[in-house]
Amino acid sequence: MKGIILSGGSGTRLQPLTKVTSKQLLPVYDKPMIMYPLQTLLSAGIKDILIIVAPYHAGDYLNLLGSGKEFGARFAYEVQDKPEGLAQAFIIGENFIENDNVCMILGDNIFEDNVSETIKNFKSGGHIFAKKVSDPERFGQVKFDASMNAVEIAEKPEIKISDYAITGLYLYDSQVVEAAKAVKPSARGELEITELHNFYLQKGQLKVDVLKGEWIDAGTFESLFKAGELARKKNATIT
Ligand code: TTP
Repeated sequence: MKGIILSGGSGTRLQPLTKVTSKQLLPVYDKPMIMYPLQTLLSAGIKDILIIVAPYHAGDYLNLLGSGKEFGARFAYEVQDKPEGLAQAFIIGENFIENDNVCMILGDNIFEDNVSETIKNFKSGGHIFAKKVSDPERFGQVKFDASMNAVEIAEKPEIKISDYAITGLYLYDSQVVEAAKAVKPSARGELEITELHNFYLQKGQLKVDVLKGEWIDAGTFESLFKAGELARKKNATIT
């Protein structure tokens, strides 16, 4: 299992903070935000991690994380020139992924649940994680049937299909690279990760777990503040 931390994007909602640094390097209680998703991958025993960053402040990631030796891992870096969508990570990461399974996590997502065993046990297909939220309009959504099987997935639909948001942690097998290459840019000009979920859903190969603990997408002032509180509450031991 390889790991990818997608840590590009523009962070416009966090301006002016993101005028001087990258969103995922902002402090969340006692460490830079990216250290939390990094810990999620390390806790699952993932040793090869590709960190995808935007061109601005790219050197700061190297300063912070280095080769990975300090963490008992190997880090590689790629630059995503423009924020052209989450699914682009699998095209940028093609040579890194090779024929392995891959676990991608967003650099601004903080998970309270321990998903290490799920990651370790992943064999093939796709596996994503949903969380019931009060503001589903901010996210891709997944609709479940009465038996909690995923039946529909949509990217920020105008009329909500579900209160379950799709969180920024994705397990895929190596089919994902070719699937990502087949994705066409959406109306907002992005290669949408929702298309990859649907690729697996249509094949009957997508598993969706519902998270029990807190999940924070720290992309707004309010959620960034909550992330700090969660980290403090957990005494900075979120895994
Ligand atoms: P978003 O929070 O949707 O986008 P953003 O970080 O650019 O912020 P804003 O909307 O405030 O401008 O992105 C979710 C995560 O994915 C975040 O960690 C950034 C990352 N990302 C990329 O690395 N590349 C991309 O092309 C996109 C769209 C997001």
